[in-house]
Formats: sequence, structure tokens, C-alpha cells
Amino acid sequence: MREVWSHKCSGSSHQIECSVFKVQAATRSAGIFVIKNKYAVYRIGRGNTQQVELPPALVPCYHTCFILSRCARVGGVKVLGIETSCDETAAAVVENGTRLISNVVNSQIDIHARYGGVVPEVAARSHIEVVNAVIDEAVVQAGGWSAIDAIAVTYAPGLIGSLLVGTLAARTLAITKNKPLYPVHHIESHIYANWLSDEEDAPRSFPILALVVSGGHTQLILLHDHGDFETIGTTRDDAVGEVFDKVAKIIGLPYPGGPSISQAALKGDQNRYKLPKAKLDTPYDFSFSGLKTAVLRAVQAEVGKRFTFPSAGLPELLNGAQRADFAASFEKTAVDTLVDKLLKAQEAYQPKTVVVAGGVSANRYLRQQVKERLPILAHFPAPEFCTDNGAMVASAGYFHAQRLEPTNPYDLEVTPSLKIR
Ligand code: KG4
Ligand code: ZN
Repeated sequence: MREVWSHKCSGSSHQIECSVFKVQAATRSAGIFVIKNKYAVYRIGRGNTQQVELPPALVPCYHTCFILSRCARVGGVKVLGIETSCDETAAAVVENGTRLISNVVNSQIDIHARYGGVVPEVAARSHIEVVNAVIDEAVVQAGGWSAIDAIAVTYAPGLIGSLLVGTLAARTLAITKNKPLYPVHHIESHIYANWLSDEEDAPRSFPILALVVSGGHTQLILLHDHGDFETIGTTRDDAVGEVFDKVAKIIGLPYPGGPSISQAALKGDQNRYKLPKAKLDTPYDFSFSGLKTAVLRAVQAEVGKRFTFPSAGLPELLNGAQRADFAASFEKTAVDTLVDKLLKAQEAYQPKTVVVAGGVSANRYLRQQVKERLPILAHFPAPEFCTDNGAMVASAGYFHAQRLEPTNPYDLEVTPSLKIR
């Protein structure tokens, strides 16, 4: 990892670029300097030529100057994050894992809305068409390639064709621009969307309990530290975002279902239709397919049709008020289920911090319920970082770079169904 430090010596000041190494043991023996106590060591001893990548700007002055440890850092580590796991082509540059420098997202929603859901082949082809322009724009806005220290890319899980486009772009750029490459798990990056904040109350203390709610995942994860994850609950069938999308289709609301259900629910009665919450013998797991079927049966009953009546014929039989009441009743049941489990896990594990992440974390009613029911403050990403984006990948990549070696860009493979550890 390259970093820029400012350094003053004998009246002249230098901006130096140093290679940063991990330190196994903090050592202060002659000529070995530990910078910022933990992760960089430079062997610059008097007369000792066995240096470790001595920065060129230091060569003329290192005999008289051992003040490297007092150097002030002037430039952060800038990571380019690339995300193409589903239907957003996204790239962003983030400094030190928290400060957004640039953020470009090309959404394919308009393309897939015609089909009522993501069509994998169409998604992959659309990524190919725009990926270069999206990355270029993010890099140019950040000051060009010389400003980029590393590249992070989503390699798992997701749609195979979509993942391939982003990872191939990232591998090629890592080789041609000579940048270290860090592969990032998609769920992990959603969690790191909560780091994209300069605010003082941003989550920093472990253990962290994360509720990840997206179109592909519903999970409760305990983060003991960066990179040390324990999944304590997961969905046994459909992800909650997927069910928002399917229920929207049944009641005749446009794709993606999450935002359109949330919007329609504002005018609806949450208690009009009684819908079931799944009862499971494992306290932190989820199941949403029964809820989806319950909505389908309730709609069929409401419009006076038998359970064999096809779901495709239902939307036009509902009026606006019924549609809004279904949206509100469904949203309440799905969200209350999420918050019940989050609360139970928070009570049992007593984490220092709670975060919510993934596309469904944009949901207004979920935010309100978590705030009302949880005894500690829960963090949510800013709305633009809830759904897929490159910034969250860059943030996760930065924290990888603090503790892991970069991957070989010639070898990186995608893993469409990889579980988080
Ligand atoms: O995280 P994401 O962009 O992609 C995946 O990793 O799956 O999440 C997309 C999902 C979709 O299912 C969408 O309907 C849902 O997030 N979503 C919402 C809202 N905004 C997006 N669900 C509920 N309420 C919302 N406001
Ligand atoms: Zn996602």
C-alpha cells in the first residue's frame, strides 16, 4: 500500500511516497522506525544500507534526520471500488475507508422494469456497455490514476455474468495501472456502507451486530473485528428484498418492489389484512416465502377468486385502496419480523454497535421501527449507499488492505454463491 507523507528536514520539506509494511512486533532498536505505532517500519539506521524501500526523498537527509515518526500524513489512502454483482454498474473512490471522493452509479432499473425483474443476460450485457465509462468517470473525478492507491472489486456473491464484467475490468486495471487488487464479498461491502461517514457517531466499536437486508440476502451477522464475522441467522428461503419485489408484482406495483411498496403503503391501512409471521425453532433465522404466499391467497380471496386463479391476472382486479392496504399490511409484517429478530439478537449478544445494511435498509418504516424499538442507537447508511454502489466496496477494500496481502490479478475468479464466513 502506498501512502503520501509530508516530511520536513534541514529546512526543506518533501512530499514523500512510502511503501507501508505490516509490523510483526513493535520495535525501536537502532535504525528501525515504527510509524504510527502499528503498520509501517523503515530501516534507516545510520550507515545502514540495508534499508527497506527507503523513499527516494529521504536519501539525502536520513543521516541527520530520524524524525520520520513525527511526519504528518497529508494524503489518505484512496481506493477505487467497482461493483457489478447485479443490476447496478458502479464505481467510486473513497479515502481511508470513510471519505467519499467520487461516486458513479449506472442503474439498469429502467431496462429490467419492462420484465418485472432482473434478467441476468441483459444485466451482464448492459454492464459491458458502460463499465469503462463508469470507472473512468469515478477516477477522473478523483484526480486521475495517479491518485488511486488500490482497487477493490466485488467478486462474490451475485449473478455470474455480472460479476465477471466487474472483476475482469478490475483485474485488467490492476495489471495495466500497477495497483494492488482486493476482492470483496458483497454482503461485507453492504455492511461497510455504514463507514461512509465523517460523523463522530459513525460505527467504530466492535462487536458490531449487522442486519443485512437486500434483494439476495437476509442475515444477522456479528462482527468481532474487521474480517472476523460470525453469521448468527439467515433466511431459509426467500430474501426479504426479493419478497418486496414479488409482492409488488402480485398487487400490481412497479419494479423494484421495495420503493414502490413503501410509497403505496403511506396511504394504506397496516392492519387491514392479517398476515402471518413465520415461527421457526432457530431464534435468529428468517423465512419469508410463507408471507409471500399468504399475500397471494389474501389477494385472491379479496377479489373473489379461487386459489387456482393465476397471480398474473390479479393486479387489475384490485382498486387503489386495496393495493395500498396490501402494501401497508405486507410491509408491516415483513419489517416487524426483521425488527423482532434484530431486537432478540441485540439482547442476547449485547453488541457495542448495531448497523443495518442492504437495499431494504432504505425502507422508511424499518428505520422508524428500529429507532423506536431498539434500546441502543442503530446506524443506517445514507440512502444513496443502501442499494448497490462502488463506495461501499472501496470502504471494505480499504479495511482489507490494512490487514491482508493483495490478490494476484491474474488469478482472481468469481464465486457466485459464496457465503460470508
Ligand atoms: O442491496 P440491493 O441493491 O441489491 C442486492 O444486493 O440484492 O437491494 C435491492 C433490494 C430490492 O429487492 C429492492 O426492492 C429493495 O432492495 N429495496 C427496498 C427499498 N429500496 C430498495 N425495500 C424496501 N424498501 C425500500 N425503500
Ligand atoms: Zn447488494
